[in-house]
Amino acid sequence: MKLHRLSLFIPAIAAAISAQAAPKAPLMGWSSWNAFFVDISDSLIMRQTDLLGELGLADAGYRQVNIDDGFFGHRDSTGRMQPHPVRFPNGMKHVVDYIHSKGYKAGTYSDAGHNTCGSMWNNDTIGINAGMYEHEDIDAATAFGDWNFDFIKIDYCGAECDGLVEQEQYTKIRQALDRVRPGIALNICRWRFPGTWAEDIAESWRISQDIMNDWESIKSIVDLNAPLSAYCRNGHYNDMDMLTIGLRENTSLTGDGLDHTEESAQFGMWCIMSSPLLIGCDLEKIPASSLEILKNPELIAVNQDPLALQAYPAVREADGSGVFVKDIVRRNGLTRAVALYNPTDTAKSMVLRFRDIDLGGKVKVRDLSNRRDMGVFKDKFTAEIPAHGAIVYAVDGTRRLEPSVYEAEWGYLQMFDNIGRNNVKYTYDASSSGCMKVEFLGASPENYIEWTNVYSEKGGRYSLNIKATPECPLQIRVNGSLHEADSAADKLKISLEPGFNTIRIGHDTSVIPAIDFISLVKQ
Ligand code: GAL
Repeated sequence: MKLHRLSLFIPAIAAAISAQAAPKAPLMGWSSWNAFFVDISDSLIMRQTDLLGELGLADAGYRQVNIDDGFFGHRDSTGRMQPHPVRFPNGMKHVVDYIHSKGYKAGTYSDAGHNTCGSMWNNDTIGINAGMYEHEDIDAATAFGDWNFDFIKIDYCGAECDGLVEQEQYTKIRQALDRVRPGIALNICRWRFPGTWAEDIAESWRISQDIMNDWESIKSIVDLNAPLSAYCRNGHYNDMDMLTIGLRENTSLTGDGLDHTEESAQFGMWCIMSSPLLIGCDLEKIPASSLEILKNPELIAVNQDPLALQAYPAVREADGSGVFVKDIVRRNGLTRAVALYNPTDTAKSMVLRFRDIDLGGKVKVRDLSNRRDMGVFKDKFTAEIPAHGAIVYAVDGTRRLEPSVYEAEWGYLQMFDNIGRNNVKYTYDASSSGCMKVEFLGASPENYIEWTNVYSEKGGRYSLNIKATPECPLQIRVNGSLHEADSAADKLKISLEPGFNTIRIGHDTSVIPAIDFISLVKQ
């Protein structure tokens, strides 16, 4: 078969790659934790820094070096943190200057509470009282004034023991950082989606417990991130944790490692879900095939795409497999990135129906994971996806179709967090469309679900159907104007503007037990 010429997405990819230094794209770099835990030193960090250049990773976009837990020494008589005397005998600035001399950024680490995680879990007792709680200003001044770091990841082990309130303590830290240098990049490491307040404070937030070195861990992180696309926006990303690609020879993290298919799937899903890309292996020992995966420019472009969107699950089966999709290049344009994701233990023939991703006409398909053109297809494209596999494609249609369904798991829940402060949540349910529904909206004006991307080509009258628990009253706001419904069974007639519209559903006083999806029919 003659390979199809790429038209739209090659210039787009090139543009996105050149934009990867843009401060708002997901972070790309290397971090010390997965391979070394607290056993780090200045020479080790400097060697890994060199390797980013030597292995071509810096040229591919990995231009930040994060020093994770393990560098703490003691607080001096003024309370100022000193670096670990054996691991960093020449001080932190020495290392930061070295990282900067290569043209890269340098990241540091702390805890929102009194004690670091390493002091609690890795016998690094030197981390006791090394966290930022009650030392917010002095630690911000030390890390960013004296040592000149550019980024900080702030963990929560000590804070959890101290019983702190996430939003209050991270806000306090944000303010302390801003007093030293406004806009320092901050990662909230609370191991679960912390709440919508995080986007005012942080560039990224962890959504999962620590990644392990096996497929089960990858699968669970993808599951946790699947309903979170609405919280991703330019400069604010759901952090799926440091990559485990290349850790095969390494035994520090629990697990036997990923094989080539699994590594490729991890990279594909981290890229299409716009996670920060932090390499976590010892670069001295990285296998050539892992290096090749990490340097794939077409997947990196999907991750760094200027639209800064996170793929959402267009189709999800009860076995966890599904189709994830996002626009790239242009919102509501003809080019989209799609992942066919198969987390199961057997290979699957997966069908991508173009209607499911709102594309019509003839569709060009390029496999970005393996960097080859697949051809031009009508209606559907079928691929064999290996067990524990994901293949990411760029698809280029000739028509963009108006969507008729918006799943609850694509919606933004103003009061959602995954730490149990509020009840509202995305719930797995095999009998719901996309195997997911949202439970416990309503009973407060803030507790709503909202879709801001309800697209109408020409505008006009639509019938709005809501798949929800029928008995409960609903308040629906279409571009701000209120409609009351006694139950979800009422078919509302609404007007949409041409282009993007916002639909919000909630109730100021009554609970809405469950919403599965909404659908629109043009009148
Ligand atoms: C964990 C965190 C890891 C790593 C570690 C350091 O809480 O999730 O990514 O930073 O602490 O002790």
